[in-house]
Amino acid sequence: MKLTRRQALTGGAAVAASGAIARPPQPRPVGPGSLDGIARRSGRRFGSAVGWSRAGADRGSFANPHYAAILERECELLVAENELKWQWTRPGPDAFDFRQYDAIADYAAGKGFALRGHTLFWTPTKWYPKWLTETHFRSAAEAEHLLATHVRTVCRRYGTRIYSYDVVNEAVQPETGEIRDTNVTRALGGEAFVDLMFHNARAEAPHAQLVYNDYMSWERGREDETHMRGVLKLLEGFRKRGTPVDALGVQSHIRLLEPNSVAQIVRQSEGPWRRFLDQVVAMGYDLVITEFDVNDRMAPTDIVLRDRRVADYAGAYLDVMLSYPQLRDIVSWGMADRYSWLESFDPRADKAPKRGTPYDAHFRPKPLRQAIATALSHAGARHV
Ligand code: XIL
Repeated sequence: MKLTRRQALTGGAAVAASGAIARPPQPRPVGPGSLDGIARRSGRRFGSAVGWSRAGADRGSFANPHYAAILERECELLVAENELKWQWTRPGPDAFDFRQYDAIADYAAGKGFALRGHTLFWTPTKWYPKWLTETHFRSAAEAEHLLATHVRTVCRRYGTRIYSYDVVNEAVQPETGEIRDTNVTRALGGEAFVDLMFHNARAEAPHAQLVYNDYMSWERGREDETHMRGVLKLLEGFRKRGTPVDALGVQSHIRLLEPNSVAQIVRQSEGPWRRFLDQVVAMGYDLVITEFDVNDRMAPTDIVLRDRRVADYAGAYLDVMLSYPQLRDIVSWGMADRYSWLESFDPRADKAPKRGTPYDAHFRPKPLRQAIATALSHAGARHV
C-alpha cells in the first residue's frame, strides 16, 4: 500500500486497522515452565525483541513459524528490534512510515503480548536517518518542534498499546560521562533535550512507564566507570529538575571479552555494579533489563564449553539483577542465535557463529535458556 503524502505525514494510513485492537488487560496464557511462567512466580515478566520481515523471509520475525512458536511459548513482552527507530519510521523531516512497526504491533496485540516501545530517540548520530545527520537547526525551537512532533505522533498512534517507552536511548557519551554532543543536543542543550523528550512522552502517554535506556555495563573496562558516573549524574539531574523518568533501562549486552574465569569476572564486577544500582534505586528508579544477550567473543570455540561458560556468566549476572525487587521486566535481545545482531556487530576471531541467545540456530534450547530459567526461579519476590 502506498501512502499519500498526507497519510504519511499524519501516520494515518493504518490507524483504523491497527488501532482497532486494544491491548488485552490480562497477561497472555503461557505454560508454568516457560521463561515467562517462571518469571511470574516472583512477580516478573519475560520477553524478547522481534523483527519484521516479509512472510517466508528468514530474519528473526514472527513470520517464521519456528521463531513465532518460541516467542509465543516463552514470552509475555515483545519489543521491535529496529522498526520503531527513526531510521525506519522517519523517511524525511515531515514524513512518517509505520508500516513495518504496525505489522509487529498488530501481531503483538493479536497474540496478547505487552509491547515495549524502543525508542523515541536514539542519541548517537550514527543511528540517525541520513537527513537528520545533515540537518542544521537554525534555532532551538526548530529542534524542539521536530522532537515534540515525533513523540506526539508515535504516542498518539499507539496509545495504551505500548506500556513502556525507551524515551531516550544512549544519551551519555561513555568516554566523558557527558550528554553526547550532536546537532540535535547542541541545538537545544543536552539537559533541555532529554527533559523535553520525557516531558512530552509523559504528556502524550500518561499511562506508560518512561525509561532512560543505556549500555553502561558491569564489566570493568576503561570507559565503564565514566559511563556509570555519567548515567548517575543524568539520573540525579532528572530528579532535581522534576523530569518524569520512571526507570533505568539496563541494556545488558553482557560481554565475555576476556579469557578470565566467570568467577574472576564476577568478583571484579559485582561490587561496583551493585554500588551503581543501589544509587539508582535509592533515587526511586525502577530497573528494566531491556536488551539481554551474551557476547561470547572470547569464550572457547568448543560449543559445549562455550555454552557452559555463557550460561554460567548469564546466571551470575541475572542473579545480581534479580536480587533487586525494583526489577520487573526482563527482555532478551532475540531468542535464537540465528538472528542475533551480535553476529555482525562483533564477530569472533575464529569466525564461529555467536551463541549468545537462549536458542540455537536450529531453534533448539541451549544451556543459556536453562540458566535464565534457574535464575528466574531463584529470584526473590518483587512484592514483599
Ligand atoms: C541493534 C539491532 O539489534 C541491529 O539489528 C541494528 O542493526 C542496530 O541496532 N543498543 C540498542 C539497540 O539500543 O537498539 C541495538 O539494536 C543494540 C544496541
